Amino acid sequence: MHADSTPPSIAVITVDGPSGSGKGTISQALAGELGWHHLDSGSLYRLLAYAALQESLDLTDEAALTALAERLSHDYRLPTQDNPVIELYGKDVSDALRTEGCADAASRVAALPAVRAALLAWQRHYRQSPGLVADGRDMGTVVFPDAVLKLYLTARPDVRAERRYKQLINKGFQADLASLIKEVEARDARDSGRKASPLKPAATALVVDNSDLGEAETLQQVLDAAHAVL
Ligand code: C5P
Repeated sequence: MHADSTPPSIAVITVDGPSGSGKGTISQALAGELGWHHLDSGSLYRLLAYAALQESLDLTDEAALTALAERLSHDYRLPTQDNPVIELYGKDVSDALRTEGCADAASRVAALPAVRAALLAWQRHYRQSPGLVADGRDMGTVVFPDAVLKLYLTARPDVRAERRYKQLINKGFQADLASLIKEVEARDARDSGRKASPLKPAATALVVDNSDLGEAETLQQVLDAAHAVL
């Protein structure tokens, strides 16, 4: 997985934004419409956090986490069309990665600069022909600064917490809306306030606030923006 050997001519569209902004659903749908690959970069941070928790690592131990990232880079699989699950050491960990505990741990390890640097090559490896839609927090600002289109999806915190609530309930997890609002706000503050690659729109990003938009309307706006540059 070497970023620097990847030809920069392969187009990338980046979709950044806070949790619950719909960036996962929209970027997956956009990739489907374009016939491109999709990278959910948050799942890499979640994978690392999950593995760190399994190994009882200190979530502030930058050296141990970076070494773990190095080892994991050979032992995980992201979803493909044939196998739509996330695997670690050959085991399906998709549901374990979606819990709020894992999200919280992911946001802690993601604040460490050496960890972010270790994950750069993993992420750039997914830049494959015919194109990539990459979603996360710093796709447009740091990982793919030459993206052909940079989108930033957002919504009001209460709307985002309610979306997370519905997602968790639909997956059979227990959830409490009031605590979710607090957790979403704490994670937003940590992701936006950190020194290393903070969550913020890229200078040229098209910002879409979809608090009052349905999924289809958001997708249409994003598709229009993509067709305008492709
Ligand atoms: O997007 P998702 O909620 O799965 O991301 C989990 C956490 O991983 C985020 O709260 C954020 O701290 C971190 N992350 C990041 N940079 C990315 C993607 C995710 O810092 N590109």
